[in-house]
Amino acid sequence: MPLVTATSYRSHGCGSLTRAHVGIRVRLGGWVHRRRDLGGIVFLDLRDRAGLVQVSCDPKWTPPDVLARAASLGVENVVLVEGVVQLRPNPARDDSMGSREVEVYVSHLELVGPAVTPAIPVARKENEDLPSEELRLKHRVLDLRRPELQRNILLRHQLAQRARRTLSDLGFLEIETPILTKPTPEGARDYLVPSRVNPGEFYALPQSPQIYKQLLMVAGFDRYFQIARCFRDEDLRADRQPEFTQIDLEASFVSAEDVQAVVEQVLVDLWREAGQEVQAPFPRLAWRAAMERFGIDKPDLRFGLEIEDWSAQVAEDAAPFVRDPIAGGGRLRGIRTRDIGAISRKEIDALAALVKGAGAGGLLWAKQTGTGWEGQGVKAFGTGSLERVGGEEGDFVLGVVGKDAVTSPALHLVRTALGRRAGVPRTTHAFTWVVDFPLFEPDPETGAPVFVHHPFTSPHRDDVSFLDRDPWRCRALHYDAVYNGVELGSGSIRITDPALQQRVFGLLGVNEAESRRRFGFLLDGLASGAPPHGGFAIGFDRVAMLLAGAQSLRDVIAFPKTTTARALFEGAPVPVSDNELAALHVRLRD
Ligand code: AMO
Repeated sequence: MPLVTATSYRSHGCGSLTRAHVGIRVRLGGWVHRRRDLGGIVFLDLRDRAGLVQVSCDPKWTPPDVLARAASLGVENVVLVEGVVQLRPNPARDDSMGSREVEVYVSHLELVGPAVTPAIPVARKENEDLPSEELRLKHRVLDLRRPELQRNILLRHQLAQRARRTLSDLGFLEIETPILTKPTPEGARDYLVPSRVNPGEFYALPQSPQIYKQLLMVAGFDRYFQIARCFRDEDLRADRQPEFTQIDLEASFVSAEDVQAVVEQVLVDLWREAGQEVQAPFPRLAWRAAMERFGIDKPDLRFGLEIEDWSAQVAEDAAPFVRDPIAGGGRLRGIRTRDIGAISRKEIDALAALVKGAGAGGLLWAKQTGTGWEGQGVKAFGTGSLERVGGEEGDFVLGVVGKDAVTSPALHLVRTALGRRAGVPRTTHAFTWVVDFPLFEPDPETGAPVFVHHPFTSPHRDDVSFLDRDPWRCRALHYDAVYNGVELGSGSIRITDPALQQRVFGLLGVNEAESRRRFGFLLDGLASGAPPHGGFAIGFDRVAMLLAGAQSLRDVIAFPKTTTARALFEGAPVPVSDNELAALHVRLRD
């Protein structure tokens, strides 16, 4: 793809000029990135999407009026220049972007896009800090001119095109689904849109195209994909945006493994597009094993430090606050460090704060000195227990006692912190499939069953009989793709039997009338002849972020929202007038 194309205004891109163009007369258009005045000679760094080039205005080749115009130019003005490409006597050291070896001797210069003084700088000195993110989001157009963001958005485009080509080559049709729709439960709140022509009624923005893509399978399209915008009104975290993009797909007459093979192909191609070779198939890890060994369903497999269960090693000399929770159905689980050196008291305190933050009573720790155990946890573990747990000189054991719902997240945090400390290898690509998720999990407040994925996920064929007897035992045909501790995407084989779908709604506390009201169009669709089908959605923003090496989703989205769901640049959301609300049949509560 050309970075910049010739048009009636320009013959070349600023950043695309090379030695091969020396001697050629060129016309360029771009933004003034920097200006330097050196005793009657003016140098401009001119920037466009292709990068930078130095243009030099010198009385030897530049008419006086042009020179005077160049000398008065501020940064970020848009100019057209004409001149001859020459080799630079001292090639620029800065190799961040653009044409370093050549410059343009300017004979004409025209200001076509005057600019006020920019609120934030686009050009930065080496090691100069960025302005605060809030300020940058507010002046997003200027921030987007930054070479880093230009690169990220270009990469995002290339990844989207790659995904389109791969899926189209695999027989997937790109089909758009509605944005004004009915609620699609994916575990978040809906953004609602009042209908003016249907008073008192609301559309929901899709949390995902889930139901529509299933209906496209029922309609016989066999393989669908979409680079789909999704909307979720939820508490935002660093890796979440209220509107985000999925590479969404669905296929008919497929098993979980068939879908996974398609997703692997897409991911391998996306990584290759970003210049990284990765291997498929990805290993598979059962959800239960992931929780047991890593304390989380999206483990970072680039390093070990696995969680162990020490409950059976607990001896009589352990403190009652360790023995009692185990007698009550809890466990003592922990991590043993090896070859990661001494852990300071300060670090232990930081780890203890992490586990307390996760709801655990505290962190028990002890160090094997070679001649015995020392540390705050010796009394709590009891020497008898520690001898059974065992360890070599220099090992630390770090334990948490309680229910798995507490020890798992707490130890995940400890493991992650220790992994970071031990130096996680950056270049390793640890993809894994997490499979065999439970179909339901208890609502943290009420204890009632809520879906783990979404209510359209099929129970594992061998577990359907548990649905009524022991729904917690029911595994789902649900699979997640995980990369270096990040959930890249999720998918499942779907329920195709309308009666089974009704039963699952029932277990989720949605009665028949309610499920007909909310999902009648899906149930009727399933009843009209539904092929076995399943699919997946890749979190596209996350993939772009990882492949761009960016720290935040906001660095790969042109106009993102803040963590309080605000668009600082355009200034949304905004209050609306009473008249507008009245037209929508909406009244605000005081
Ligand atoms: P799920 O809800 O797991 O599955 O979403 C799939 C992937 O989308 C990404 N993602 C997000 N990215 C940014 N901001 C968010 N708020 C956000 N929420 C989710 C994640 C996630 O893994 N319909 C199902 C898919 C299916 O079953 O086919 C679905 O939406 O990377």
